[in-house]
This record gives sequence, C-alpha cells and structure tokens, in this order.
Amino acid sequence: MVGNTFGTLLRLTTFGESHGESIGGVLDGVPPNIPIDITLIQNALDRRKPGQNRYVTARTEDDIIQIQSGLFEGKTLGTPICFIIKNTNQQSNDYDELKTYFRPGHGDYTYHAKYGHRDHRGGGRASARETAARVAAGAFAHIILQHTLKRPILIRSCVKQLGDHNAITNTQAIDWDFVIKNTEENPIGCPCPIALPRWIQKLNQLKEDGLSAGATLYFEAHGLPAGLGEPVFDKLDADIAKAMMGINAVKAIAMGDTFDVCAAQTGYDEMTLNEDNTIAFTSNQAGGTLAGISTGQPITGLVAFKPTSSTKTVRQGLTNNGQPISIPINGRHDPCVALRARPIIEAMLALTVCDHFLRWRGQCGNS
Ligand SMILES: Cc1cc2nc3c(=O)[nH]c(=O)nc-3n(C[C@H](O)[C@H](O)[C@H](O)COP(=O)(O)O)c2cc1C
Repeated sequence: MVGNTFGTLLRLTTFGESHGESIGGVLDGVPPNIPIDITLIQNALDRRKPGQNRYVTARTEDDIIQIQSGLFEGKTLGTPICFIIKNTNQQSNDYDELKTYFRPGHGDYTYHAKYGHRDHRGGGRASARETAARVAAGAFAHIILQHTLKRPILIRSCVKQLGDHNAITNTQAIDWDFVIKNTEENPIGCPCPIALPRWIQKLNQLKEDGLSAGATLYFEAHGLPAGLGEPVFDKLDADIAKAMMGINAVKAIAMGDTFDVCAAQTGYDEMTLNEDNTIAFTSNQAGGTLAGISTGQPITGLVAFKPTSSTKTVRQGLTNNGQPISIPINGRHDPCVALRARPIIEAMLALTVCDHFLRWRGQCGNS
C-alpha cells in the first residue's frame, strides 16, 4: 500500500490500523529550532477525539500523543518528528462478524478486492481513526507557520449545512464566537444560534430512528501571505482539494463560500487599492487564490460529507462469498460524522499551506 504520505517539503506519513497497537505519523521537513508546546498538539487531539458530546460516537479513546523523535529541550531538531497514539479502546469483538461480509458505504469490499487480505476490525486502515495522526501533524504545521511568519494564523471552520438545512446563506453571517467560544451550548459547530435548536432536534431524531445525515463544512485561513502555490500541477487550490478529498466520507470540495462558485456568480473579484495604497480586492469569490497562487486574502472553502454509512437500521450488503445479507450494525457510530471533522479539515489545511509556505521560502524567500 503506497499513498500514505502527504506533502512535498513538509511530508506527513501516517501509519496504523484502528485496532492495532497504535497509530501515528512521521512528519519530515520540519525546520529546526521551532519551540513546540506539546499541550497545543494534545489540545488539537482532544478536539477530535470521540465521546465529546452525545451527538458523536460514545467510543472513548484517550488519544494521548507520545513523541518518539525530532524534539529536544522543547524545540524541533529539524529531524523527522515521529509520534504515536496508542489504541486503548478497541472492543474488537464488536467487529468479529465483519470478517465475513462487506458493509455498504465502507472500504471493506474495495480493500478486499485490492489486497485480498484486510484488518476487518473497525475498518482497519480505512477507519477515520487514522485522522488523529493528521490532526496532530496539522497542529505542528500551525505552530511552524506562526513561528516562521511571526504572526498569528487563524484557521477555523464550522458546520454550514446539516442534512437539508443550511444554517446561513452568507458566510459573513457566521457567529464565530458562538462556534468557537460557546462549545458548551453549541458542541456541534453550528454557525447560528437560531439554527441550533433545529439541528439538535434533527440529531436526536436521527439517533432515535437509527438514521444518519450528511453535512457541509466551511473553512477559512487568515493571515497568509500572497505567493503560496506552484503552477501548474501543484496549485494551492488543487492541493487543498486533494487534502480535503482525502478525508474519510468527503465527497465534494469548493473553493470560496458556495458550491455555485462558478455557475451562479456575476463578475469576479475586482482589484482596488486600500487607503494606504496597498492592494485589495472587492470580493473573495475565488476563495483566496488566482492561478493557483494565494492572493493574501483569506483562503476559504466548503467540504461536503456523506451521511454515516453504519447506522442502527439494517442495511443490505454482500458476504465474502457474494451472498446477499441484511446487516444489523452493532458498533458505535455518529449520526453525522461531519460533526467530528472540523479539527481534521483545519489540520489538512494547515499542513497544505505550511508545505506551500516552506516551498515559497525555498524558492522565493529572499524576494
Ligand atoms: C471523524 C470521522 C468519523 C467517522 N466515523 C464513522 C462511523 O462511526 N461510522 C461510519 O459508518 N463511518 C464513519 N466515518 C466515515 C468512514 O470512515 C468512511 O465513510 C469509510 O471509511 C468509507 O470511505 P469513504 O466514505 O471516504 O468512501 C467517519 C468519518 C470521519 C471523518
């Protein structure tokens, strides 16, 4: 199996299956002498871990990061940072039956078709547990970016649409304090206090009925300079699309704040000057890039997630021998997996822009 590595100058390789000893990552290309506060990495992992509220899976995993290499006396050495996260909550018996059939909507069949041998427990390598390694690496990337650019880089996301209900039509209307600071009342990243009760009601109903919903998440990154992104195959928006599409259950991405980014727009991001004669744009419909290179505006986009495949309702699958089978799902599952995906999206964005920042520095750093 190749394809476990992401990035060019900042390269993350992840390893591990969800019910193996541990999962983890090797982050290579990290500049030396960057102070790393490990609590920031752990905080990022804590945001992703299951069991945070009643709308996400009841699995409880501690997800404690253990650094194996690359840090010394609180700073990066410039050598590969290797970290592991032990798998501590494997109830592998929950998954025993899975060796005999293919669940719809999962990688069971495709892994079998490709490799002929799979770790069936909890999805193995296809499990979203692997994304914990991305979240840890993304937190390193965020620290590297802020340290080398010497300014705060704000990377944030919210859930814009849950099922068929769009909470906001305009991303300017996102109540970021409600999303980020009010996590007690709003543990699901809803962008609008008026929409929240409706969403909670919907999630309760989905749980009761044993059904699931998809969702659309909005992301943005502020504080990045113009110039990130490489013509022509490694455009910044192309690499962001790859980063997002590589997340489990993601089915679509758009740059900007609408999936109608091209079809329904009239006119496009005109240029102007600020009062101090610095360059500005009249809008940011393109999501912060031109010709694949960042403009210095916020990088913005939308990511669409499919509904959770495993629910409590019986689904139709096939046995390993090709016999139809009705599958009752026994494991522990989220009614909407996207509700846990905000830290993953932010991590993949941080990794992508940090990789491009290091590439920019390598080629144009003195210009
Ligand atoms: C954070 C997160 C948690 C997930 N948890 C579940 C889950 O509990 N049950 C499930 O059926 N799918 C879950 N998924 C989605 C599956 O991992 C994914 O649908 C499956 O591996 C097939 O891959 P694909 O949907 O990308 O084609 C989760 C996805 C994410 C991002």
